[in-house]
Amino acid sequence: MKLDRKEILKALETISVAGEGKNIVESGAVKNVVTFGEEAVIDLVLTTPAMHIKKRAEDDIRKLIHEKFSPDAKVKVNIKVEAPEKANEIKGKAIPGIKNIIAVASGKGGVGKSTVTANLAVTLAKMGFSVGVLDADIYGPSMPIMFDVETAKPISVMVDGKSKMKPIESYEVKILSIGFFTAPSQAVIWRGPMASKALNQMIFDADWGDLDFLLIDLPPGTGDIHLSIMQSLPITGAVVVSTPQAVALADAKKGVSMFMSDSINVPVLGIIENMAYFTPEELPDNKYYIFGKEGAKNLAEDLNVPFLGEVPLVQSIREAGDYGRPGALQSGSVVEKVFEEITRNVVQETVNRNEALPATEAIKITTMAGCSAVKK
Ligand SMILES: Nc1ncnc2c1ncn2[C@@H]1O[C@H](COP(=O)(O)OP(=O)(O)O)[C@@H](O)[C@H]1O
Ligand SMILES: [Mg+2]
Repeated sequence: MKLDRKEILKALETISVAGEGKNIVESGAVKNVVTFGEEAVIDLVLTTPAMHIKKRAEDDIRKLIHEKFSPDAKVKVNIKVEAPEKANEIKGKAIPGIKNIIAVASGKGGVGKSTVTANLAVTLAKMGFSVGVLDADIYGPSMPIMFDVETAKPISVMVDGKSKMKPIESYEVKILSIGFFTAPSQAVIWRGPMASKALNQMIFDADWGDLDFLLIDLPPGTGDIHLSIMQSLPITGAVVVSTPQAVALADAKKGVSMFMSDSINVPVLGIIENMAYFTPEELPDNKYYIFGKEGAKNLAEDLNVPFLGEVPLVQSIREAGDYGRPGALQSGSVVEKVFEEITRNVVQETVNRNEALPATEAIKITTMAGCSAVKK
């Protein structure tokens, strides 16, 4: 069947693209439709660099033409991205050597975001991945304490004729923290652009080497700072930490919506429930649901995002954090076991994400087919 340009154009009005507002004809995204017999070429200009959105637009168009006009039609969709803001240009740019950047976020402060980040990092390292942590919590950087490197000062090294900051290494994790550059007593209230500039330097002008995972401990909340950080970095996915408590859950929900919003558009890998219950060491079978039961798990279900697991409230987790040796390093401990399971889920969700949304924003991990949690 011969395809008709005008009919196709009309049919394209039924398609819209996340982040583009109106349908693709009305929004001006469709720049041109050309038909030659059974072949149609559609030129699209989108403002979002997100690969999955481009892919979906292409799939929708192809499906529409096949179903509505001819199942044998040859459809070619050319998509050009014209980012509305400069920041988005950087967003599409993967950082050489860093395969996956995972943002760890929480709506509320004090829910254990940093504790979870530190334990995820050491567990990933134990599994054989190369791991970095970027402590971006400008309100309360805690990686220097949690990794027992409080007095460390990163030195600068020459890499390919450029001077770069060398991350501090502890427990096989490479660390850069905003805390290395400010006195601990100094309350740092950075404005968004300043903070994102400092963080950009810690990512782009640092000698991370090859990393399978770079975890970013974000500041709590959902403010401007998050917008500027997220828009300037190619983040693979976000993990949201919450306690089961209602106030924390409400903020976690805001966090999830922030990542899913059109302007940020970072896939949420899942939710981790911290302080899920208390277990006394002498009565390990007793579980006390101090902050409520399964709140974060239910939230994950409601929001249709993966639930990555629960971390109990354990005194040794707090002590380990204060002492500067993440609890998951304690061989044979409950904490180790808990984090092994959660970390495996995070890795699995990263693999799923990279399979579902190919290319641009993150480079696929290739070392772990089937998520055996072992690096080849
Ligand atoms: N599962 C847990 N069990 C016991 N203490 C915890 C747990 N998670 C966090 N903590 C403690 O709670 C406090 C706040 O945790 P932190 O990771 O600093 O939170 P955030 O980074 O979200 O502000 C810290 O003292 C930490 O040691
Ligand atoms: Mg913290």
